[in-house]
Amino acid sequence: MLIAHLTDSHIVEKDKFWLAHPLTKTEDRLAKAINHLNQLTPRPDIVIFTGDLTDEGTEAAYQHFQEILQPLQIPLFVIPGNHDCRETMRHAFHKSSYIPKQGFLHYTIEDYPLRLIALDTLLEGEGKGGLCEERFQWLQDALKQDNNKPTLLFMHHPPVKIGMSLFDSIRCFTPTSFEQTLSRAQNLVGIVCGHYHHFCMSSLAGKPCFLAPSLAPVHYFAHPTDQDVTALQLDEPAITLHNWLEGTTLTSQIIRLKEDYKRLDWTKLTKQAS
Ligand SMILES: [Fe+2]
Ligand SMILES: [Fe+2]
Repeated sequence: MLIAHLTDSHIVEKDKFWLAHPLTKTEDRLAKAINHLNQLTPRPDIVIFTGDLTDEGTEAAYQHFQEILQPLQIPLFVIPGNHDCRETMRHAFHKSSYIPKQGFLHYTIEDYPLRLIALDTLLEGEGKGGLCEERFQWLQDALKQDNNKPTLLFMHHPPVKIGMSLFDSIRCFTPTSFEQTLSRAQNLVGIVCGHYHHFCMSSLAGKPCFLAPSLAPVHYFAHPTDQDVTALQLDEPAITLHNWLEGTTLTSQIIRLKEDYKRLDWTKLTKQAS
């Protein structure tokens, strides 16, 4: 099973720019990713989008997001990030059967070899994320519902510290028994998140925790202890492919979508015997 993982596109309303700068081009970055996914062989089975779909959570921004997503030929599953608005997002995706009619935007995906649990970590109006009692209970129930089938958890805010002051202060704050709950879930193969925009690999409760690189540009810090962003780095948009191989191994690969693809024909290169 092949899962395409997109995150943090920060789409704004049409004819506007993210952070009011034309070079941020978040619309083009998302369109490029969709185009790339449609051309992949084999084609991913599903696309998961781990939040910050839009930058300000307005109806017009979701409309714009959906227009850009229109050509996507793969089933899409979304969860909110701190820049999204739960109710506006629910309304925008109301035709998607997996989106709950009320309450938190969490759900499970049961139709594939790898079971997926989508967690809503949004605390409206805050940069950091959290799991209140209700959501934590929901997660525990969702894990218990099937303790055999290999399962992957996806959420916007990473539930781990990575040693960077600002990011650590806006991670997902979880109940004390969260880690214990994860370690008891023998069939949980990992956690995948967005939010930091940078790629980072960590672990929690003995499970790999993958922080996916973003579609939008990346916040730059001169030092890990910096509390303020000093620049916006215009890295290429990135997508991640999580490959569930032969029902035992999850392998994750990052694809950076460069401005122009330049490839050298391998057969025309002079190869020296090594
Ligand atoms: Fe973001
Ligand atoms: Fe975020």
